[in-house]
Amino acid sequence: MKLFDVYPLFDIEPVKAQGSYIWDKEGNKYLDLYGGHAVISIGHTHPTYVNRITDQLNQIGFYSNSVQNQLQKDLAQKLGEVSGMVDYDLFLCNSGAEAVENALKLASFATGKKKVISFKKGFHGRTSAAVAITDNPKIIAPINSNHESVILPLNDLDAVEKELQKKDTCAVIVEGIQGIGGIIVPDPEFLENLETLCHKYEALLILDEIQSGYGRSGKFFAFQHSNVKPDLVTMAKGMGNGFPIGGVLISNKFEPWFGMLGTTFGGNYLACAAALAVLEVLEKEDLVKNAQKVGDHIINKAKKTLKGCEVRGLGLMIGLEFDTEIVALRKKLLFEDKIFTGVSGTKTIRILPPLNLNLEEADLFLDKLAESI
Ligand SMILES: Cc1ncc(COP(=O)(O)O)c(C=O)c1O
Repeated sequence: MKLFDVYPLFDIEPVKAQGSYIWDKEGNKYLDLYGGHAVISIGHTHPTYVNRITDQLNQIGFYSNSVQNQLQKDLAQKLGEVSGMVDYDLFLCNSGAEAVENALKLASFATGKKKVISFKKGFHGRTSAAVAITDNPKIIAPINSNHESVILPLNDLDAVEKELQKKDTCAVIVEGIQGIGGIIVPDPEFLENLETLCHKYEALLILDEIQSGYGRSGKFFAFQHSNVKPDLVTMAKGMGNGFPIGGVLISNKFEPWFGMLGTTFGGNYLACAAALAVLEVLEKEDLVKNAQKVGDHIINKAKKTLKGCEVRGLGLMIGLEFDTEIVALRKKLLFEDKIFTGVSGTKTIRILPPLNLNLEEADLFLDKLAESI
């Protein structure tokens, strides 16, 4: 059997990783400014993380969601404390798309409506409702196209209000910072006014923090750079530092009932152990503050030193948009300078490193980049 060939691959095979570094099977060492697609939050193979998952596996790895699981309760408690979202409930699942799907379902259950408003350049995952509200017609199959959805320009409040006036919208969903779209930060006032409009027209506000959450923006959630209180928050990626886990934060206006949501693997012992280790390390090593400090440094220096480049982002979620194509530039960074970066479209480099990245590593990247353009 061969693999179903859906991913264009670099000819590199990582076999080891530590902190902000990866080694391939030839022994080459790479600086990881991509974080395995914004997933690595506390750094690769952090000892606290490795020990916690290993210890858990030696006790119990899995049982179903039909029994008590203290680790899930511990995770909810800790997440509330570290994120500042103490008055929300937590539903655990396994991926970003699943988190979005469940958030949309909750919004639809609660309002009895089914239209969703999302935004241009947004990405919310590949499951049915999530892909239907994603701004990429290429990945929407006919079976996904029956959801009621409308995709509007980001930061355009008038367009949102016009749509909400029809009173058939269950949810408005927006990324804390648009990731796949090229690191686009929504205006804080837009988010705040979106909340007001949602209240006015009885729609629910969902913040998709799957890529921008877990400290990446220099706050625990990117929407915390504004003064907004979402009804639902979706998260995944950095939550497990590579162990598959996702979740939805649910404001206390929602009333759960048995069977309303569910999943076999969501909230399993190993995923909870991984997620608890992530929160402990984030807190102990002050990584959210580090993301802010090193991110500010990169953004300020890039603005000063990189010619022909628009710099966008917050914390360690940074987009560098050039006025020319960057395929060759990224290849040089990867194969000659041994630096992994992400991309958006054909002109934007995305920087999504582990949150423990230090200033020297940041400077090394900026120097190599300046040399190459
Ligand atoms: C903002 C956002 N939402 C949802 C998803 C989907 O997450 P997953 O790939 O874990 O299903 C992604 C993935 O990149 C994302 O960036």
